[in-house]
Amino acid sequence: MKKITAAITGVQGYVPDNVLTNKDLEKMIDTTDEWIVSRTGIHERRMLGDGNPTSDIGVAAVNKLLAKKGISPEEIDLVICATVTPDHPFPATANIISDKTGMKNAWSFDVNAACSGFIYALTTGSQFIETGKYKKVIVIGADKMSSIIDYEDRATCVIFGDGGGAVLLEPNEEGYGIVDSVLKSDGEGRKYLVQPAGGSKLPASHKTVDERLHYVYQEGKAVFKFAVTNMADVSAEIMERNNLTAETVDWLVPHQANLRIIDATANRMGLPKEKVMINIQKYGNTTAGTLPLCLWDWEKKLKKGDNIVLSAFGGGFTWGAIYLRWAYNS
Ligand SMILES: CC(C)(COP(=O)(O)OP(=O)(O)OC[C@H]1O[C@@H](n2cnc3c(N)ncnc32)[C@H](O)[C@@H]1OP(=O)(O)O)[C@@H](O)C(=O)NCCC(=O)NCCS
Repeated sequence: MKKITAAITGVQGYVPDNVLTNKDLEKMIDTTDEWIVSRTGIHERRMLGDGNPTSDIGVAAVNKLLAKKGISPEEIDLVICATVTPDHPFPATANIISDKTGMKNAWSFDVNAACSGFIYALTTGSQFIETGKYKKVIVIGADKMSSIIDYEDRATCVIFGDGGGAVLLEPNEEGYGIVDSVLKSDGEGRKYLVQPAGGSKLPASHKTVDERLHYVYQEGKAVFKFAVTNMADVSAEIMERNNLTAETVDWLVPHQANLRIIDATANRMGLPKEKVMINIQKYGNTTAGTLPLCLWDWEKKLKKGDNIVLSAFGGGFTWGAIYLRWAYNS
């Protein structure tokens, strides 16, 4: 019997129309367009309106993906949503997206691995295809970062944006799809990057709200150091494990946290800029949303058989890389 791999057979992104530019931020906090662009590579980011939860991002992406593939929502077996900005602590945002899109026959759950969420969720989803148990799995990465960002904190509010996307995983017997993944985590990282309140450690109270503890806290310099080293290391590791070289890798799909981290990862892999997907300038860091948004933006350029490395680093700390062989021509 031939080995079954999990192939991405469709991708769809979604970003809200509303744009928040660096110039807009100049009017809100003590910053400059020049500082933001030179330190991060970001020019603008998208903002989902008040009253629109993260599930709206997933719903928009899934509806278009299913329409594009000509698949009815009842055919989906499993839905996994990577997010750190769920609609509610529970039920899972994946449950809500399934309900709103009519994926009535799917079971569904969320994955919380911050900026590595999509890599974790894609690896998880692929296992259910590889066992032969399921035929159609939807993996979503979506975040409404504006719901947990302090727009008075210039160290974080310039970086993040809202958006995400979804992919369809289906079985493949010709060796296309997810070939390998390396996943890591280190909970000590929680002191550098955390949403301090709102969980069981510090439930919401007047005090936590007054002290602005429901917003993202980040020690940027420390996170930067860990991110640069670990994202580059894990990307090199997945290349080595699979005998990939700078020549045989067609695309790097890096998490979009900071252009300098992306450049360092690409340099370590020996890849020229032309092989690196970069859209941070227009979306900022959409956390679990960055990788599906890249695949969506580049979908038309991807060719069947392309060797693709996805790589991410995020809160936890969590990090990882996936090697996949693209399964279709658009
Ligand atoms: C956040 C980040 C862009 C900050 O860049 P940096 O070069 O490390 O900047 P620092 O935090 O050291 O700050 C340098 C100076 O700029 C100032 N500064 C910070 N944010 C600023 C802003 N938006 N505008 C202007 N100045 C700013 C700081 O106050 C500091 O001033 P000082 O030297 O007078 O104290 C960068 O650290 C980073 O990208 N970190 C990793 C992010 C990441 O990967 N996140 C997690 C993965 S999801």
